[in-house]
Amino acid sequence: MKIKKNAEQRAAIECDIRKNVLVEAGPGTGKTFVIIKRAKWLAAQENINARDIRLVTFTNPATKELESRMEKQCRGGMKVSTFNSWCSKLLNKFSVRYSKFRLLSHDKPENKKKFSEQNKFLLNVVKSSGLNTVKDIKKFSSMISYQKNRCLTVKDATKEKYPDIDLSDITVKNIVTNYKVFKARAKKLDYDDQLCLVLEEMHRDKMFLRKISLEQKFLLVDEVQDLSTVQWKIIHKLSENGVKIFCVGDPAQSILTFRGADPIFLKSFNKSFERTKVFPLIKNYRSNCGIIHLCNWMKSLSSSEFTKNKGRKALGTEKPVLIEFNVLKET
Ligand SMILES: Nc1ncnc2c1ncn2[C@@H]1O[C@H](COP(=O)(O)OP(=O)(O)OP(=O)(O)O)[C@@H](O)[C@H]1O
Ligand SMILES: [Mg+2]
Repeated sequence: MKIKKNAEQRAAIECDIRKNVLVEAGPGTGKTFVIIKRAKWLAAQENINARDIRLVTFTNPATKELESRMEKQCRGGMKVSTFNSWCSKLLNKFSVRYSKFRLLSHDKPENKKKFSEQNKFLLNVVKSSGLNTVKDIKKFSSMISYQKNRCLTVKDATKEKYPDIDLSDITVKNIVTNYKVFKARAKKLDYDDQLCLVLEEMHRDKMFLRKISLEQKFLLVDEVQDLSTVQWKIIHKLSENGVKIFCVGDPAQSILTFRGADPIFLKSFNKSFERTKVFPLIKNYRSNCGIIHLCNWMKSLSSSEFTKNKGRKALGTEKPVLIEFNVLKET
């Protein structure tokens, strides 16, 4: 069945191609629907090649969802990927320094007590730095990830988020420096390097910046509330170099703050980017009237500035129903 766009959705989808667009709206209002339609609408414009369009999101399942919701015949040469795999491709294809570097696997082994390849690597670095071990290597690697995503110094990241890492500032800094050196020697990257090094190369190498700005002239980002500082800096630099940004998200749904996501950037979208247009969507297509009224009421009680935006319009008059289950399997 063909879904008919509502007026707000249509305005966002058909917005001037020279604008940088933010669609900021609550759950189930059709944000992903809009980003897919925008991609299709762009590809249908006479002067736009589908190969110049890239859609990014954060997880593999979210990428699969985007792909499956785009009818195959409409994809043309459009590219869909996670933010990380897109950055990895940019480094492989265009970076003189890092094209041969390979990713350290972050996959958790089935045995939960064992470490991922990345954490094993870090543990070896810790040992080579003169320490027997670090009590909680996973926490340590989360700190490094947070530090890189937030573009902080090691000292600030530890103070802000991991004050219970019981090592001196100098020891922590040494380990982090050695981790970097060891990775460089082994020609390895971790996930966060994929982002940080794209940003670094954008500043260091003008040719890299030029090539990656031409690689996708239109960048569409789903779940933009989960962008971290380094990711915002990447898309900002690209937009300064002519790439048009179209992003959709809901600041109240940010789930990656532990890893450095910072929805505060959404608030400054108009100031940070040029030629911007912000669209709200207010009709919720997923939940019934009762649930939306309940959520709007709960939001009105919240002190978070991200839940202070307008309530959502409910469709229909159904009330929520309580369904009871006897066993977990039935759910
Ligand atoms: N104009 C419309 N008319 C009817 N149904 C719609 C319309 N727009 C979106 N929908 C439907 O609403 C549902 C939610 O849409 P979508 O997943 O795009 O929302 P979302 O805002 O991205 O949600 P989330 O916040 O969970 O990411 C989907 O089933 C979609 O097909
Ligand atoms: Mg969505």
